[in-house]
Amino acid sequence: MVARVGTVAFQGIEGVPVDVQVMVGPGKMNMHIVGLPDKAVAESRERVQAALHASGLAMPPKKVTVNLAPADLPKEGSHFDLPIALGLMAALGAIPADALADYVVIGELNLDGTLAAVAGALPAAIGANGLGKGLICPADSGAEAAWAGAEIDIVAPRSLIALANHFRGTQVISRPQPAIRANPANLPDLADIKGQESAKRALEVAAAGGHNLLMVGPPGSGKSMLAARLPSILPPLSAAELLEVSMIHSIAGQLSGGKLSDRRPYRTPHHSATMAALIGGGTRAKPGEASLAHHGVLFLDEFPEFSPQVLDALRQPLESGECVIARANHRVSYPANIQLVAAMNPCRCGMAGEPGHSCARGPRCAADYQARISGPLMDRIDIRIDVPAVSAADLIRPVPAERSADVAGRVAAARERQRERFARAGSPDILTNARCSTSLIEKFAEPDPGGLQLLRDAAEKLKFSARGYHRVLKVARTLADLDGKDIVGRIHLAEAISYRMAGERLAVAVA
Ligand SMILES: Nc1ncnc2c1ncn2[C@@H]1O[C@H](COP(=O)(O)OP(=O)(O)OP(=O)(O)O)[C@@H](O)[C@H]1O
Ligand SMILES: [Mg+2]
Repeated sequence: MVARVGTVAFQGIEGVPVDVQVMVGPGKMNMHIVGLPDKAVAESRERVQAALHASGLAMPPKKVTVNLAPADLPKEGSHFDLPIALGLMAALGAIPADALADYVVIGELNLDGTLAAVAGALPAAIGANGLGKGLICPADSGAEAAWAGAEIDIVAPRSLIALANHFRGTQVISRPQPAIRANPANLPDLADIKGQESAKRALEVAAAGGHNLLMVGPPGSGKSMLAARLPSILPPLSAAELLEVSMIHSIAGQLSGGKLSDRRPYRTPHHSATMAALIGGGTRAKPGEASLAHHGVLFLDEFPEFSPQVLDALRQPLESGECVIARANHRVSYPANIQLVAAMNPCRCGMAGEPGHSCARGPRCAADYQARISGPLMDRIDIRIDVPAVSAADLIRPVPAERSADVAGRVAAARERQRERFARAGSPDILTNARCSTSLIEKFAEPDPGGLQLLRDAAEKLKFSARGYHRVLKVARTLADLDGKDIVGRIHLAEAISYRMAGERLAVAVA
């Protein structure tokens, strides 16, 4: 007889339904798994046999065939252990065959018959709900799966025996409860930074509109410090964003203890990161740092030290908000709606442009270093600022600096204005100016006559690309939002243009 159990294979952050068919038939005692299994799935044979043995069930002296349908969809990961084991138990009559019909099953087996947590419990639960089914998953993944909705039937046993007893009615497994991770209260605070008022202002603008930011300055001026304080001024994730972000972290197996947090992701990959680490992919498709930073910040410190190919691979996600990875026989995509923040020195010795300093290798020093960042990538960065060395006066006798909580208040108010505006315009999924479409921003950021004249002059003189032109408008819109103004004025445009010019000035200084 053939027993059938429903499970999922992950493609991107979606769970595609997979039917596990187990047949026990006449033949030499053996177990075969077919249906494009990867190495982890193929090894499941050993774990299933050992776990059944440990649970007091002997393998039948017959031929066992396991088919994972659809046969042409690649199956990756260890979460197929449990559905295979349950299919086998149903085929042997150890659990009622119809007990599994209403469930999607995922889970990895230990050799002693206990269940180990698997990645992807949250998207699996959401997928199961979409099919009108419940979810059976390991106890350690239960808290995460419970986030998918209060109405979903979730059974999260510790072991195969507990699950079998549950189906026999001799033991009741209670539904797991969703858990939230307490946010650490001691985030680094902006008040720690002495001086750097214009850099702090730029950080606030970037946070308010979700704009990409590049900080250029000599060593020890506080660039890494500034970036580390960005999480303290960003608003928390909304409920919908929280679920999206958690799905990606769930697939990557990065939800510790299945607990979710409403803090915006802040990812800081090292500059030795490979393409697979940053964009995703590798032998087993996994989301990369760019996707793990979805709805949050991707901070690339020492920007030019990243490999140029890896940096250029960010161009497409920065524009489209998703990372697309081509595999041998299919393609997967992960959401990557990110705010890019980068920091760099102006040249290899780090001091180009500082008063009284001359680089050992002359202007080539800065030119070669900055050439590692391609023009198109630079074009995607809306706010470029110089972060000069802190003056002695600021260091020794600093004026009291504003605390992160105050800045966060202004950022939250500006974001609320943006959210309301886009909701009124019938685009409730756009939340920040940075994500606004070009047609909408032309409408919402239409400047007053003085601003228009300034924009026209600047666009001609600085030869903005079309993208650059729209990005200036977006930053100007954010500045007006921070100001609480409905119309973008000349003053907002002037500041927005100055943020774009800082990069151009750098290039001119080098030439
Ligand atoms: N504006 C500042 N206020 C207070 N302390 C500062 C400031 N700037 C730098 N520092 C001190 O210098 C240290 C180094 O700062 P940070 O790592 O941010 O420099 P950086 O600009 O990132 O340098 P690099 O280019 O070498 O990465 C900080 O840990 C802090 O002690
Ligand atoms: Mg640094």
